[in-house]
Amino acid sequence: MTTKSKAAAQDAGYRVLSPADLSAAHGLRAFALDVLNGLSETPKRLSSRWIYDDEGSRLFSRICELDEYYPTRTEAEILRNHTEDILKRAGTDKLDIVDLGAGDGRKTNIMLEAALKQVKDVRYVPIDISEASMGGLVKNMRGKFAGLKVAGIVGEYFDGLHWLSQSNDRRNLVLFLGSNIGNFNKVQARVFLRQLWEALNDGDQVLIGFDLKKDIELLLAAYNDKHGVTAAFNKNLLKRVNRELGGDFDLAAYRHFATYDVFSGAMESYIVSLKRQTVTIRDIQSSFEFQEWEPLHTEYSYKYLQSDIDGLASNTGFKILDQYFDNNGWFTDSLWQVEKPSL
Ligand code: AVI
Repeated sequence: MTTKSKAAAQDAGYRVLSPADLSAAHGLRAFALDVLNGLSETPKRLSSRWIYDDEGSRLFSRICELDEYYPTRTEAEILRNHTEDILKRAGTDKLDIVDLGAGDGRKTNIMLEAALKQVKDVRYVPIDISEASMGGLVKNMRGKFAGLKVAGIVGEYFDGLHWLSQSNDRRNLVLFLGSNIGNFNKVQARVFLRQLWEALNDGDQVLIGFDLKKDIELLLAAYNDKHGVTAAFNKNLLKRVNRELGGDFDLAAYRHFATYDVFSGAMESYIVSLKRQTVTIRDIQSSFEFQEWEPLHTEYSYKYLQSDIDGLASNTGFKILDQYFDNNGWFTDSLWQVEKPSL
């Protein structure tokens, strides 16, 4: 059967939804469904993945500038000191630097600046689900780096990677920086990395930022900054429910709380209700009771031991090529290579 044009389909009395129609509808439904599920559970939870609307992304950029939030500047130090070596390990003239989650691109800039000097034929390939963010990022990178080839992909990470690794013979160096891996629990991290392995070709490389276990006071300070930016970031989840789903959360009646679980190795973020109260969320036609001091879990930020990193690489099919550390040994960018045995 051949596909009809949009107009012909309309004449024939039906409409084929475009990817844009689908993703707008899907995004809102997924958020609504997650809010409904999470607030119906005991203990209540809302995933931190929903924090990053425009306001949440702005607040996260401010967190990255805070004295207490060491991961950003620490990883930037690692990249400034070791990017030349990392690119040498790629050992190719034709390199795609694939960016999963560029954020505001500051760390990617360090990598691209070096790559333009060192690699004959380099392309920058950001992958992002949001077409709006992609448009801004591509424009920004083109403005910043004259002559840089940019080939952004709007889509899910693994769809983008599968397509990319099947459509050319260039070596991929995938960046998954900023300890984003830490927002997955251990099982999710393993599944994510195995999916990454599946989507790539033998010999492709990935550079992953892991935040390491360290003095607990440093961890607690990083997620409880004195200016309250992290608190605002966390509570942006409630604001977003109010804005997008017609919720009536009274933000002043909740507080941010972040603590460290030594056993699991995770910083855990919560929003705690300061009184007995009810929230109503119009778009999911539901109300939820909060008792005084009842917690709502929002985020895990797992911290790693070297043995955790070694285990994760070997369990998911990667070989660790090298590890790069900051001077304090607080953070590592770990360079892995995909190994696919020919069976
Ligand atoms: C994006 N992610 C790695 C940050 C983290 O450290 O877990 C998000 C964050 N949450 C509070 N501060 C920063």
